[in-house]
Amino acid sequence: MLASIQEAATTGPTEAALAPHPDRKCIIDTHELRKVYQMGEMEVHALRGVSIQIYEGEMVAIVGPSGSGKSTLMAILGILDVPSAGKYMLDGIEIQQMHEDDLALIRNDRIGFVFQKFNLLSRSTVLDNVILPMIYRGLSKNDRIDRAKQVLEMVGLGDRIHHKPTELSGGQQQRVAIARALANDPALVLADEPTGNLDTKTGEQIMELFHKLNKEQGITIVIVTHDPEVAAQADRIISLRDGLIEADQTTIQHKFPEGDEGDIDEIANEDIPENAVLTVEKGPTDADKTE
Ligand SMILES: Nc1ncnc2c1ncn2[C@@H]1O[C@H](COP(=O)(O)OP(=O)(O)OP(=O)(O)O)[C@@H](O)[C@H]1O
Ligand SMILES: [Mg+2]
Repeated sequence: MLASIQEAATTGPTEAALAPHPDRKCIIDTHELRKVYQMGEMEVHALRGVSIQIYEGEMVAIVGPSGSGKSTLMAILGILDVPSAGKYMLDGIEIQQMHEDDLALIRNDRIGFVFQKFNLLSRSTVLDNVILPMIYRGLSKNDRIDRAKQVLEMVGLGDRIHHKPTELSGGQQQRVAIARALANDPALVLADEPTGNLDTKTGEQIMELFHKLNKEQGITIVIVTHDPEVAAQADRIISLRDGLIEADQTTIQHKFPEGDEGDIDEIANEDIPENAVLTVEKGPTDADKTE
């Protein structure tokens, strides 16, 4: 339950966000990524030089107005599209140097995708949807089934494996998509507006699941969102505008203890770095407990 969000001035990357992490592996390392779409006579500059580093175990939100280049960036990070210029290293592999066939394998092995519209096969069962990305992996049929059941348990759908997606709620369908994304034990999960088609409460549950996967299993997660409350749950918020990074902020979560209604002024004097985003969460009240 996020009570309020206070944003500091956003003038540029924070020191914390820019500080090197010598002990952590860099999963995403881009240098001056550009993307130009040719529309007849017109050129659309969707990305105009994006350099970012995302480290193993981070949970990062990408925000920005419609048309700012979020989905274009995600497609390049997910090797679904190629940049017009710039460099991309994924988990130490220089993507531009790879052959197309190898890229398909890298994409399948190292990246899990979650989309706004779930993108599940409607005629296949939940189990078969999750098995699908494992087919190219050389696992035995039984191992694939075991792994699919394991990830479906992880997302809380162990009792729905023989359902078709149409027989599930929106939130459950998105959890199937998350299980599918996790099937091959990826280094990175990319989610483009994963809560965009869900009501607020279901969206919160999906975010809780991402949070759990990030904190308990150390999965690196990058989420595009329009929702400031969703973004505030990430460790870091990267804001895009007109194809450029406008801000790169770390988030600081402040949780008031149980029974404490919370007073923002109380923590305003705390040592909060410049450009950080402060998220304040109230302690559970008596009303919450009787819900
Ligand atoms: N296939 C394409 N062909 C031409 N232009 C494109 C294409 N895809 C995106 N664009 C343009 O590139 C820019 C960035 O688009 P993108 O989809 O990355 O924005 P976004 O930040 O994801 O927006 P939204 O929040 O609405 O999803 C926009 O101006 C868009 O019109
Ligand atoms: Mg988009």
